[in-house]
Amino acid sequence: MDQLKDQVAVVTGGGRGIGRAIATALVAEGAHCAIFDRAFPDDFAAFTASLTAGGRKVIAKAVDITNTAATDKACDEVAAELGRLDILVNNAGITRDKLMMRMSDEDWDIVMAVNLKGSFICTRAASRIMMRQRRGKIINVSSVVGLMGNAGQANYSASKAGLIGLTKSSAKEFASRNITVNAIAPGFVETEMTAVLGDEVRAAFLSVIPMKRGCKPEEVASVVTFLASPAADYVTGQVIAIDGGMTM
Ligand SMILES: NC(=O)c1ccc[n+]([C@@H]2O[C@H](COP(=O)([O-])OP(=O)(O)OC[C@H]3O[C@@H](n4cnc5c(N)ncnc54)[C@H](O)[C@@H]3O)[C@@H](O)[C@H]2O)c1
Repeated sequence: MDQLKDQVAVVTGGGRGIGRAIATALVAEGAHCAIFDRAFPDDFAAFTASLTAGGRKVIAKAVDITNTAATDKACDEVAAELGRLDILVNNAGITRDKLMMRMSDEDWDIVMAVNLKGSFICTRAASRIMMRQRRGKIINVSSVVGLMGNAGQANYSASKAGLIGLTKSSAKEFASRNITVNAIAPGFVETEMTAVLGDEVRAAFLSVIPMKRGCKPEEVASVVTFLASPAADYVTGQVIAIDGGMTM
């Protein structure tokens, strides 16, 4: 249970959903954790209290990751307050699903700004610190739709495909500094993001999943934990699908 003992992780969008499960898993392996989110739900204080019970430090920063100055400042504060920054999980993401005919420029821009540019902004800020440390692990939360595309998600799937390009380019740039960069591509995960989908969309997803069930946030978090751990020291530039076989 100590694979990440005393390492410091930043999880973006960790206020709820998959990010919360990732923060929980990293802390369970001994990491201290900073959670960046633009807003925190009412039960967030109780959540962080449960995490710190084991003696790990958990801090929350209200940061909109599309804001460069705020994100740079938050990463520097993490390094000052927790001593270092070893792991960055670019998890924050949004959807604005619409068929292309009805998709506005604003729908396109905001999804690209959060999912893709926000991940770039966080990567640039965290990598400055990781470069000095000569070690780091960056994990980008992409999606199966970044690999396959999806009707009604031109903006989202383009952002998630872009994140794979960002992953591979930054993996090449940072490899000599002992910083690995990998992406995960979850399939259908049961969170508040997918709770809004209708029964028809849900049934369509389940029909193409060989394992015939959705993914639990904890099942995403366990792969992130592996990629953040020394067990994955020689793994970089990869995209790991967590999808019950959907994209095999
Ligand atoms: N749920 C799924 O089925 C699924 C599948 C594949 C990939 N993903 C990806 O996993 C990640 C997490 O998804 P989730 O289902 O937990 O979503 P969610 O909506 O439950 O959580 C996303 C979190 O990101 C935060 N966030 C949004 N914009 C932000 C910003 N500008 N700055 C800071 N924080 C911001 C939100 O406040 C929220 O807490 C997303 O990147 C999503 O695209 C989800």
